[in-house]
Amino acid sequence: MDSFLPSPDCDTISKTDNGQIDSHLIQKTNEGYREILPNLPRGKGWMTEHLVQYQGVWLTPNFALKGLMWVQDHFKPRSTDICLATFPKTGTTWLKALTFATVNRTRYGFTDHPLLTTVPHGCLPFLEACPKDLDGFPSPRLLSTHIPYTLLPNSMTVNQSCRFVYICRDPKDVLVSKWLFMNKLRPKELAPISLEEAFELFCQGISHYGPYWDHVLGYWKASLETPEKILFLKYEDLKKEPLVVVKRLDDFLGYPFSLEEESKGVVEEIVKLCSFENLSTLEVNKVSEQKFSKDTIIDNRHFFRKGKVGDWKTYLTTEMVERLDEITYEKLLGSGLVFGS
Ligand code: A3P
Repeated sequence: MDSFLPSPDCDTISKTDNGQIDSHLIQKTNEGYREILPNLPRGKGWMTEHLVQYQGVWLTPNFALKGLMWVQDHFKPRSTDICLATFPKTGTTWLKALTFATVNRTRYGFTDHPLLTTVPHGCLPFLEACPKDLDGFPSPRLLSTHIPYTLLPNSMTVNQSCRFVYICRDPKDVLVSKWLFMNKLRPKELAPISLEEAFELFCQGISHYGPYWDHVLGYWKASLETPEKILFLKYEDLKKEPLVVVKRLDDFLGYPFSLEEESKGVVEEIVKLCSFENLSTLEVNKVSEQKFSKDTIIDNRHFFRKGKVGDWKTYLTTEMVERLDEITYEKLLGSGLVFGS
């Protein structure tokens, strides 16, 4: 398998056109990072002590900020790249699994599929993790990012070099999922974040890659302008009609299912393989962990909680719901986008 072997030490990875590591360029990025970091606005962090605001977006000071700067300075897109773009907790893991399974469906059987032994994040790298061997990946490269559309380098957007698949989710479910997830990863020496606190921060836009609404709208608007380059999906639609959405995904990616595949039930097999019920019960997703960077190592089981639509009802008060819905209404007004299916 062309599996992603995370080696996200940005100090070691920039290469020149002839494949040589260009330490000078890396040094420049690192110097830029060290220079700007102390002067960036700070907000309370969810799984780190604080977040920093850079180019209008809230990021963890180490992994996310460094990763963004690396992508902006060094990433060399290819016209065949397929990049999954998501805000954290909107369905990244699921989308990775589905994309990996569909694009590689002729390479692997369903009984010995890599997704049975590798967490989806291990099959498809985050750009921000600046994987060492990205240049060596065969085309089409399957990549992913949390970076907002407006912060991506021009080489990825203006020249429309890559194609993107974006997935959004009801902000109320994103908030709850994120709050529970981040508290699990929060270091013991920091007190857990209360729901009330997380709610306030989320409403103010202070959450990883937030504000959430700006993130969604960036990709939404771009998808309206260049629908051939950006497929915009909703978690709720995928839950409701997975077969329909997976076929849309495949058409967009340029791997449409043949009649023979459809009649053999290949689409159903992919949906079943990538389902929450299947992935969350696999040994690898219960006991192993994924290393995203030197300091960001996450137990795979944390990527699978309930996988439901509307679990916010268990946690949010009526006042919270009203306020979040109001913010969403105002932010999306005139955009043509509504959350949910
Ligand atoms: P919940 O916390 O609401 O259960 P991300 O992958 O972007 O981090 O998002 C995580 C959310 O997607 C979690 O939501 C998780 O349970 C859910 N999820 C993970 N795998 C899934 C799958 N195969 N199908 C549906 N939802 C899934």
